[in-house]
Amino acid sequence: MDHSSQLLYFLYIQNLVLQNQFRTLFIDTVRAIVGALETRDQYTHGHSIRVSRYAIMVGEKLSLPIERLHGLELAALLHDIGKIGTPDDILHKIQSLNTAEFSVMKLHPVTGAELLSQVEALRPLVPFVKHHHERFDGRGYPDGLKGEDIPLESRIILVADTFDAMTTTRSYRKGLDKKVALKELKRCSGSQFDPKVIDVFISAVENFEVPTESIMEKLDQEKKRAA
Ligand SMILES: [Fe+2]
Repeated sequence: MDHSSQLLYFLYIQNLVLQNQFRTLFIDTVRAIVGALETRDQYTHGHSIRVSRYAIMVGEKLSLPIERLHGLELAALLHDIGKIGTPDDILHKIQSLNTAEFSVMKLHPVTGAELLSQVEALRPLVPFVKHHHERFDGRGYPDGLKGEDIPLESRIILVADTFDAMTTTRSYRKGLDKKVALKELKRCSGSQFDPKVIDVFISAVENFEVPTESIMEKLDQEKKRAA
């Protein structure tokens, strides 16, 4: 390799390292903000980080390109950011929500999308967050989108979100056993959830324990080693 090629290669590596450092800083900041928000409710602490890990696991199994995985991770972390506008008495209510309260709760995907749309770097995530409560059969909210009209990222986040909500202990009930939760996901495949996402999720999660280290961090380390 001649001198100019070596220099170009060095600059290329430096650029990759800087990009990676920036991404790590960015995602750590998002995690910290989301973590701070989740302290409002001890039972949802860590929920968004777990949802992002499950979502990435599905995205990897679907062979999504790395840039799309990055977007999926961020959107999964931020999916419930709009709950910042949901009053505590609704957010923490143990009993079922009444119609009026549920209407308020249902605003959070749109509120989240509006918040993200104000940050240029997060704008591509707006549809993923806005549609994370759409159902495959079109009976979800806010827009009643159906099937593949719902962004794939939102369909993945919905499954990951529901699985984590079912398997973790809340103030009003104990977390369900993983097998029971997977059976419930399967039961709602094709109605609430995208059957393709469910199949991938079930095959991936059956032998999966939530790792202490983010899968994305591992990917980043592998990328660094490869560079
Ligand atoms: Fe949500």
